[in-house]
Amino acid sequence: MLLACKDQGEFIYIIPYLMKKLVLILPLFFISITGDAQGLKSFLPSGKYIGTAINDTYFDNPSANGADYENIVKADFNVVVAENAFKMSTILATKPSDPLNLKLSDLNLSKVDKLITFTQNNNIRLRGHNFVWYSYPPYWLNSEAAKWSEVQLYSFTKQYITLLAGYCKGKVKEWDVVNEAIDDDATTPAYRSITWYSKASSAQTFIDSCFYYAHAADPDAELFYNDYSIEISYFKKQDFMLAMVQDMVNRGVPINGVGLQCHFESGANTNDWVYNELRILMDKLAVMGLKCNITELDLRICGSGSSSVEQADEYKKITKIFLDKSNCTSMLLWGFTDKSSWIPSFFSNCDDGLIYDDAYQPKPAYTAIKDELESSNAVELPDNAAEANAGVYPNPSSQSFFLRSSADVKQITIFNLQGKEISVVENVKEGFGENLAEGFYMVKIQYFNGDISFQKIEKM
Ligand code: G3I
Repeated sequence: MLLACKDQGEFIYIIPYLMKKLVLILPLFFISITGDAQGLKSFLPSGKYIGTAINDTYFDNPSANGADYENIVKADFNVVVAENAFKMSTILATKPSDPLNLKLSDLNLSKVDKLITFTQNNNIRLRGHNFVWYSYPPYWLNSEAAKWSEVQLYSFTKQYITLLAGYCKGKVKEWDVVNEAIDDDATTPAYRSITWYSKASSAQTFIDSCFYYAHAADPDAELFYNDYSIEISYFKKQDFMLAMVQDMVNRGVPINGVGLQCHFESGANTNDWVYNELRILMDKLAVMGLKCNITELDLRICGSGSSSVEQADEYKKITKIFLDKSNCTSMLLWGFTDKSSWIPSFFSNCDDGLIYDDAYQPKPAYTAIKDELESSNAVELPDNAAEANAGVYPNPSSQSFFLRSSADVKQITIFNLQGKEISVVENVKEGFGENLAEGFYMVKIQYFNGDISFQKIEKM
């Protein structure tokens, strides 16, 4: 068109043409600086959250292009977590005058407040990371805790969690209550011992207590145990974690899920076997009635060990797992831009683990996630209204259960809460479960279309 005008010397015709184009281009420009309406989150099925860690060097910082950073967050994500702002190292960065009599005014909450306001204004879910972590304690804590009795250790921890969870009540929807409590030793895993909380004579009682304190302060918040190297069974840490959370569930400790950090190396830690392992782990936790969320995903590229194309494929496969597994409700990246990532300072010769480059341009990994989310929307799902009510219901008149489902069910497997299979029911049409003893069970419902869902039931 432009060339045609030039050839004919009719430059006058270019003006209306350009004006017409401007009308088309302006909204696109507006969208790109205010938040892309077609960002990742717009392709999510309901009930799923995609998110990022927020780095406060860039967030809310005009001198570091904070507006661009925030616009991407608003466009792409419906859940965020602070990379560092909610850690004890930030909240208690200044030593309180009397650490055993903590007051709300001892807590440095300015960055917490900013994130609460940002998430409330933009309808973004906020997750809290974390109350208790052995690593990076405030500079004063190790030496102070060394002087405490066990009772004082519990008292400090209870006051801290109660104050922070209470302050954030209703605003922070989920918390990593305890982070990385299991030792790295792959052969004989155990609770970590070299920590500020090693005064606790029973690490498990201490962990349980943290969950009880958090639950008491905000009964509606979802509570997670979060760790790395638990994603695959090759690490013995996974067995230890599974036994630990199963035991917590059995004893009624208020735990809602497990967070898999998923700091992977592209091309090295990711192959079909790893993806399969992730699926199996999510199913095992589902049988316990627990969520299994991906909380700190990144896929670092080390040397020439991988490429952005290979990395994109890995992101795509992990996104599919997140979409497939009903107990995996959130997938959070540990940051979104390579401009701000912990990777290069922690791993020599590694970088580029995220989905936007240093200049805030989307990488192939971004497109891969987007494509996977988009294609999931294209899949024809069973009738939504009926599916919303699908599940197993008690039938008091016959002391059994009945199944309501619009989709055809292939098989129902009943497990006890220790994960032991009790019975398998095929072709479920009428009631089932008449012979179950009283107590709680987990049922796995397998549909003919390949979908699987889990539900906890109580036989009275
Ligand atoms: O706040 C100080 C600042 O005052 C000082 O000027 C600056 C100089 O280096 O340091 C700042 O502290 C840094 C802090 O991040 C905030 O930026 C620390 O040195 C730095 O070590 C700290 O690293 C964080 C690390 O956790 C320890 O808290 C990383 O950003 C963060 O990505 C990393 O996150 C962890 C998760 O919490 C748990 N899972 C693993 C993950 C990666 O290690």
